[in-house]
Formats: sequence, structure tokens, C-alpha cells
Amino acid sequence: MSFSVKPTVVECDNLQNFFKQWEVGPSDLIITNEYVLSPHLGGGKAPCDTLFQEQYGKGEPSDQMIDAMLKAGGGKEYGRIIAIGGGTIIDISKLFVFGSGLTCEGIFAGGAALPRKRKLIIIPTTCGTGSEVTGISIVEFKAKGTKIGLAVPALFADEAVLISSLLNTMPYEVFATSSIDALIHAVESYVSPKANDFTRAMGRSAIEKILAGYQGMKGEKKLPEDKVSFLIASTLAGIAFGNAGCAAVHALSYPIGGGYHVPHGKANYMVFAEVFAAYRSLKADLSPLEVVLKNALHDSSADIWKALFTLLDTVLGRQPLGELGVNEQTCAEMAASVIKNQQRLLANNPVKLSEEDIKKIYIRCM
Ligand SMILES: NC(=O)c1ccc[n+]([C@@H]2O[C@H](COP(=O)([O-])OP(=O)(O)OC[C@H]3O[C@@H](n4cnc5c(N)ncnc54)[C@H](O)[C@@H]3O)[C@@H](O)[C@H]2O)c1
Ligand SMILES: [Fe+2]
Repeated sequence: MSFSVKPTVVECDNLQNFFKQWEVGPSDLIITNEYVLSPHLGGGKAPCDTLFQEQYGKGEPSDQMIDAMLKAGGGKEYGRIIAIGGGTIIDISKLFVFGSGLTCEGIFAGGAALPRKRKLIIIPTTCGTGSEVTGISIVEFKAKGTKIGLAVPALFADEAVLISSLLNTMPYEVFATSSIDALIHAVESYVSPKANDFTRAMGRSAIEKILAGYQGMKGEKKLPEDKVSFLIASTLAGIAFGNAGCAAVHALSYPIGGGYHVPHGKANYMVFAEVFAAYRSLKADLSPLEVVLKNALHDSSADIWKALFTLLDTVLGRQPLGELGVNEQTCAEMAASVIKNQQRLLANNPVKLSEEDIKKIYIRCM
């Protein structure tokens, strides 16, 4: 059994107080989006240099975007990198801890052998990835047409600072995709062979908070009042999967996210139901998780999965893969890509999935 929480997790009430208490100044670099940062500056300026991701590419992190950002912001010897954003900003910022003169490919090749040169503070502005507490960075490698994760100890933040007021400007779609991502982190890690009492306690709490929050929304597609609860749930789920791992849902979503530029949480949701249906037909023992879901949903019906997906469908539409232009041939290619590139994740499945099983899951999602 093994369990650890690496970054110190701190709550702070607003960004101005964070700047004061952490004495943010000229030796720091903030990596963010201008439209996420500026509503919190009270008309003033940030107290240090800033690097705005949207100037270097659109969407989730790619090797090309990261190389352009490392070149633009990597030269000065900053003491601290401060990430203020969703998983995109956070995963990019993690790669800045190695100092200047590196490329994304070089960092992934160097991995654990690379020395860390800078401190890292992470402030999440979505309620999903839990990346503020994981030592993982996930990047789309354009030439490979998929996302690949690097998991090394140097990528852990020193501190994760939770400021829930930063979530107020999230578009509804970002809330929906990111919170479903957090729920999937909690669910996948709960049934991982690496799960233990500590990860399950975190995962269970995250599941309860997210499902209670969704039930409270009563199908309305607007940001919930209680964003703190979703923010804490995503960090709890991050600690759970950072220790016990994510599995096939994430593995199968990466060729969709990378190949068709579907946001991460949405790509996960496209395959979530069918991956768990496949586990059930392969006789995985999901009963402890089903008890947690029944309690969280206050639902004792025999098919708790149907009840779960009925609720989740009110939060985020489940797009069929066919609408992206996926056909049987691409399902086979994506299944081959999963087997080749995602063994780190497939190792955490509660039952083994073959390439044929994975292809069939994709076909059922069409
Ligand atoms: N490293 C990990 O442990 C880990 C875990 C899960 C997911 N991820 C990665 O995280 C990424 C997805 O992150 P995400 O779901 O947080 O979305 P995101 O960071 O891609 O953000 C989605 C959009 O919302 C905007 N946004 C974010 N916060 C906002 C706010 N408060 N106000 C207004 N706009 C805001 C962003 O600028 C972006 O345009 C994927 O690349 C995924 O692979 C990483
Ligand atoms: Fe995720």
C-alpha cells in the first residue's frame, strides 16, 4: 500500500490576497490566460511577468504550443512558476520547472533524470483535472495524433492554492466537462488495483460532493452556487487518482481528444458508460463502487448505472463518436493507438481489456 499528498494544499479567499501573502514579485512568472486573470486584478496589473497561453495556440496543450511558450518565457531565471488556470495551463506550467533551453520532446525524453530548477505554485480555475495535486503533465504530440502523459516526481507543485472565486467566470460547458472529468477520476481510481483505503476515502468524498452538486442543479445548465464543493471534490479526486491511477476511460479518450480536438472531460464522457459496461460484461467486481454510487444518488434501483448516466446526461450531452466522423476503421486505429501508447493507464483497469475489446467499446460509442 502506498499513499502520499505531495503539494501543501491551502485555501485563499481571493487573488489579491494571494499576491500579498505569497509576496509575488519580479522573480516570479505567472502562466495563465489574460481573460482568466484580468477580472481579478481590480483594474491594475499583475505584480510580475505574465505568459498568456492563448497567444501560442488554441485548445489543450500540444508539443508545438509548449515549445513556443518555453521559448518565449523560458529565458529569464525565474524563482517560481505560478500557474493560474485549468488543466491546460497547469500541465504546461509544470514543464517550466526544468528551467530554460528545453523542448517538450526533450523534457518527455529526459523524464525523471532532468533536474528541477524552479518552484511551482498551482491555482486551479476549473473544477476538474486535479492536476494541482498530481505529478503528471498530459500533452498532445501532433506527429503521433494522441495525448501522452509524463508522470515524474519533479512535476508535483510545491503548493496548490484553492481560490474558489476564480471559478466564477467559467463558461457552463467548462464547468460540465471539467467536473465530469473529476467524477471519472474518482470512479476510475476507486476500482483500480492500486486503490487503498486512503484513495477510496478521497474518491468516495469526491463522488458524493459532485453527485450531490449535480442533483442540486436540477437539470439547469448554469453554474452552481456552491463552486467550493466542486473545487474541493476535484482536488480530492486528483489525490485519489494521483495515487491509484486512472484507467481505460482516460486511455480511450486520448486518441479522441488528440485526434479530434474534443475537450478532455467531454472525450472521457463519450466513452465512460461503454467502458464500464465492458467491465461489467467481463465480470469485474464493481460492487463496492456501486454501493458508493447508490448512497450518493440516494437510489436503490437495481441498475445504478442507468440512474448515474441519466443524471450525468442532464449536465453534459453525450456526443456519439460517429458525429466526429469516426468509423469502424478509425475505431480499429484508435484501439491500436491505445494499446501502443496508453499502457501506463491500462495497467489500472479492474479487468484486462484486449485490443479487440477496446475496438468494440469504440464501435458501441459510435
Ligand atoms: N495532469 C493531470 O493530472 C491532468 C488530469 C486530468 C486532465 N488533465 C488535462 O487537463 C486539460 C483539461 O483541463 P480543464 O478541463 O481544466 O480545461 P482547460 O484548462 O482546457 O480549460 C477549458 C477552457 O476554459 C477556459 N477557462 C478555464 N478556467 C476559466 C475560468 N475560471 N474562467 C473563464 N475561462 C476559463 C480556458 O481558458 C479554456 O479555454 C486536458 O489537456 C487534460 O488532458 C490533466
Ligand atoms: Fe482527466
